[in-house]
Amino acid sequence: MKIAVILGSTRKVRRGARVAKWLMRELAKFEGIKFELLDLLDYPLPFYDEPNSPDSLENGYSIEVATKWAAKIGEADGYILIVSEYNHGPTAVLKNALDYVYNEWNKKPVTFVSYATGTAGGTRAVEQLRQITVELQMAPMNRAVHVRNVLDTIDTDGKLLQGNYVEQLEKAMKQLLWWTEALKSAREKS
Ligand SMILES: Cc1cc2nc3c(=O)[nH]c(=O)nc-3n(C[C@H](O)[C@H](O)[C@H](O)COP(=O)(O)O)c2cc1C
Repeated sequence: MKIAVILGSTRKVRRGARVAKWLMRELAKFEGIKFELLDLLDYPLPFYDEPNSPDSLENGYSIEVATKWAAKIGEADGYILIVSEYNHGPTAVLKNALDYVYNEWNKKPVTFVSYATGTAGGTRAVEQLRQITVELQMAPMNRAVHVRNVLDTIDTDGKLLQGNYVEQLEKAMKQLLWWTEALKSAREKS
């Protein structure tokens, strides 16, 4: 099984980088599963400007980065979105990256590791992402990790300083992996 971990913030001073470091280190403990970090900085997608929605593009994408992005999404069986909350929603870059693809997201599960400098921990952005990912025919998980006060919780090296986030992640992963296996097998049958 392959799980893509998508880092959804691209600011030069982004706290998402420390969350990604912590998460990738924790995920390495899950044996037999391939985790790949997809940093949206490496996929500089302009705002979506194709003549049709991605499920009905007659000649594919007009830009190479989009072709590359869609192919990468297609390789994965499930997803973890690293989510920061901008004005109670997901970042524009993450929404745009979701919009770029359709078929490759379909019938696959997704969970969320959100964070914020405040106490809500990105929960409101995750709620919006659950709605959005249903429209992409994905299966969003109800379990997720919400890191509060990220600056005091994970340092720049990705070291966890406080909180029961490892336990939260284990529960979220147990659920995600169940669905990843179930949906992979169902996709292969149909
Ligand atoms: C444009 C913008 C909007 C924000 N809106 C929220 C918000 O609605 N709720 C929240 O808890 N934090 C909010 N924050 C604070 C973020 O939680 C904090 O800056 C976090 O580090 C953002 O992730 P990033 O550093 O990876 O970009 C906002 C930050 C920015 C830059």
